[in-house]
Amino acid sequence: MRSKNSTRNKSSRSVSRKAPVAQQLGTLIDSKRALVGVIGMGYVGLPLALEFCRSGFRVLGFDTDRAKVDSLNAGKSYISHIPSENVRSLSRASLFSATSDFNRLREADCITICVPTPLNEQKEPDLTYVADTSATIAQNLRKGQLIILESTTYPGTTEELVLPVLSRNKLAVGRDFFVAFSPEREDPGNRRYPIEKIPKVVGGVTAACADLAGKLYSKIFQRVVHVSSPRVAEMTKLLENIFRCVNIALVNEMKILAERMDIDIWEVIEAASTKPFGFMPFYPGPGLGGHCIPIDPFYLSWKAREYDFNTRFIELAGEVNTSIPYHVVERIGEALNTRNKSINGSRVLILGVAYKPDVDDMRESPALKIIELLMKRRATVFYNDPHIPQFPKLRKHDLNLKSVALTPKLLRSMDCVVIVTNHSGYDYEFIVKHSNMVIDTRNATRGIKAEKSKIIRA
Ligand SMILES: NC(=O)c1ccc[n+]([C@@H]2O[C@H](COP(=O)([O-])OP(=O)(O)OC[C@H]3O[C@@H](n4cnc5c(N)ncnc54)[C@H](O)[C@@H]3O)[C@@H](O)[C@H]2O)c1
Repeated sequence: MRSKNSTRNKSSRSVSRKAPVAQQLGTLIDSKRALVGVIGMGYVGLPLALEFCRSGFRVLGFDTDRAKVDSLNAGKSYISHIPSENVRSLSRASLFSATSDFNRLREADCITICVPTPLNEQKEPDLTYVADTSATIAQNLRKGQLIILESTTYPGTTEELVLPVLSRNKLAVGRDFFVAFSPEREDPGNRRYPIEKIPKVVGGVTAACADLAGKLYSKIFQRVVHVSSPRVAEMTKLLENIFRCVNIALVNEMKILAERMDIDIWEVIEAASTKPFGFMPFYPGPGLGGHCIPIDPFYLSWKAREYDFNTRFIELAGEVNTSIPYHVVERIGEALNTRNKSINGSRVLILGVAYKPDVDDMRESPALKIIELLMKRRATVFYNDPHIPQFPKLRKHDLNLKSVALTPKLLRSMDCVVIVTNHSGYDYEFIVKHSNMVIDTRNATRGIKAEKSKIIRA
């Protein structure tokens, strides 16, 4: 008997073996009989896998983390904006299952790589995950497979790093197997732009590679944008994120100046946004966070050195954005000073430690730096985050903190409350009413009436 996870059904998959490999794979994709393998069941890979299932493909999710695989096979999601019911119903329909058995990569016709691309301690690209994954795929590579890298990386990775590893086994790219790069543009938790509405950029190593990758994505994305090569697609993703990084730095610098000039930067941005062309609003905050914006630009600066090129905008933006949590802590110190208090010995409550509203992701969150700086200055720090009940152990931090309940008594017992992440579930009126002083890094308290010294923008 065939196991539930068994993914090959020879009769339903039979395609003419006489047709060229690309045509055979195209037929499997068009008829949705192709098995899709997604490597890396994280914030990018899991939603992508479920989206392929929803459109009718069977998907095998691969991850080295057995706890994630077990959780998915038990029908449990570990990402807050993905309901467990979605995983359960697709598993029940035999469309989705997860595995740590990488030999099963052979079963997949189309494979997308969604593994991490972090920086190492020296802020240089750490491509070990992509390299390891490429080697594992190479061991299992067979004729008729399409491999697409989705992890964000510097231009050249697909052709200089992934392709040589895959090409070791004598199969020819563009004829026997197919390789492309397609950047992931998902914005987790963004209801306005669900995954299928975000155009998908694709660059293939050959025309056949591009065609097949485009064919696959057209089954779930409303629009596929073809570019001439993987390098162009890789650079496209970096341009998008560097654009954000630079503009966020600019508005953060403007915020600091505006504070000194006693001008409300938020009012300025609102007014500037009424210009119907040539202006796009970016908002200041407590500093950069998340897996992408603080990290991706350095992938390009690193690669640029190979071309004797210094990416000055990226470096400057990095410098400004890194300084923002320090600025926030300085503002907290100034605010406490007006009440004859110092950071040393004060009780400070941080509201929101996720890197952005309504997600449970703390990676690179500026809250971490702010908490670290406050603790160094001997404040007693508490936090509340409805999405993060307990601080996870992170690469650089093990703070062993638990989210405290937001009660009037707790708020009154704090010397100041710092809004770091403006989760939509917070009742800001309630927070302001019961707090002694609120430091607002997100303009979350706009419109709330209170005496001037009670709410301080930072
Ligand atoms: N999170 C986002 O919003 C976002 C948006 C766009 C692009 N990206 C990019 O997508 C890529 C993945 O990011 P993410 O946020 O999903 O990361 P993640 O850490 O949430 O998920 C990565 C997953 O890969 C698994 N993994 C690690 N090594 C593996 C291996 N060798 N084989 C199989 N699985 C392995 C991990 O266990 C983890 O489950 C990164 O390059 C990131 O820059 C992320």
